[in-house]
Amino acid sequence: MGAEVVVEGLTKSFGRQTIWRDVTLTLPPGEVSVMLGPSGTGKSVFLKSMIGLLKPDRGRCVVNGVDIVSCSEHKLYEIRKLFGVLFQDGALFGSMNLYDNIAFPLREHTKKSETEIKRIVLEKMDMVGLAGADKKLPGEISGGMRKRAGLARALVLDPEIILCDEPDSGLDPVRTAYISQLLLDLNAQIDATILIVTHNINLARTVPDNVGMLYRRELVMFGPREVLLTSDEPAVRQFLNGSRFGPIGMSEEKDTATLAAEQQLADAGHHDGSTDDVYGVVPQLQPTPGLPDRRGVRRRKDRVMSILHSLPPAAQEGIIESLTPDEQQHYGVRPHMFATAPIGRRPSPQPRDRIEGDLGVANLPQTTWRPPEPGQGGGV
Ligand SMILES: Nc1ncnc2c1ncn2[C@@H]1O[C@H](COP(=O)(O)OP(=O)(O)OP(=O)(O)O)[C@@H](O)[C@H]1O
Ligand SMILES: [Mg+2]
Repeated sequence: MGAEVVVEGLTKSFGRQTIWRDVTLTLPPGEVSVMLGPSGTGKSVFLKSMIGLLKPDRGRCVVNGVDIVSCSEHKLYEIRKLFGVLFQDGALFGSMNLYDNIAFPLREHTKKSETEIKRIVLEKMDMVGLAGADKKLPGEISGGMRKRAGLARALVLDPEIILCDEPDSGLDPVRTAYISQLLLDLNAQIDATILIVTHNINLARTVPDNVGMLYRRELVMFGPREVLLTSDEPAVRQFLNGSRFGPIGMSEEKDTATLAAEQQLADAGHHDGSTDDVYGVVPQLQPTPGLPDRRGVRRRKDRVMSILHSLPPAAQEGIIESLTPDEQQHYGVRPHMFATAPIGRRPSPQPRDRIEGDLGVANLPQTTWRPPEPGQGGGV
């Protein structure tokens, strides 16, 4: 089973610029999680902090009892072997061909023979659709191919924890669908704990068990997918819908006058740039038939059902509807226990439901978004 990753009160600044503060979340073992957030909110910085490449100012990131933030260099070297990381830019060695790039972690961290290394490298290259490209240099291939080579390299050590920074960026929609399926199949096969940073809303809605969002220097949300997908938080809705209208601006938060002007445009029928309203819990992607069931899904059901009462009604409804009738009976729940709109339709505004305590959902905002006071505009 993949390792659990416990992040507590993590805060990171560069000089006087705070990137995010007090980030607390747990990546449950063997589950797939996605981190969303506008560009520049520090998602890549977060991944690098989790593996000790960047040093946070405060907080802990604990894997197998070792705090990556404060442990010795030797411990860090050992614990990093548990991670497979796909960096946003691929981070391939420009002077090495793809084969040597992908073989690198095996030669660095294991005593495997070259014959064994060859078998693993070619298998992973085939897996990400790069068969036959082993002699190519990173500078000779497309951006999407570099990304896939980075993913193959992240997988060669059969990691317990896989961190992927925008695995879909630079990929066409079909390749993105293959990568989504690949990550889920991999999870079914090796039960690894996976965290994916992405801007791809389709992937975020269909792949993960848990979704979080970084925004305005905080983790505004992290929890079961049903919570974010049914959230009414304006920034979350705007982000999921890819809309121009809402609190997230091009380079900073919007003021009241801008929001009022947008409302006028919306009232006049001006298009906000979004596609459909994507409110609601859609079915989750399944592993390819023939592969083992995802063990993380079984564990997650028990985990999520134990915190069900603490979740908002729409999320509770989404979770209950995703259970089979037998499972509903097992957990003593039934559909439509809560009055919510059907999937795909936004419920009419209703008072927000409070979430008590820290039961797997971090910092779910309870108030509607308000524009910042003059002079407090942020960099998000
Ligand atoms: N090594 C560094 N030194 C100083 N500032 C940095 C460093 N790395 C990142 N930053 C800053 O931290 C902020 C967050 O950067 P990061 O790359 O994590 O954003 P992101 O959320 O991954 O964005 P995107 O979605 O565009 O990839 C940015 O303002 C960036 O300039
Ligand atoms: Mg990034």
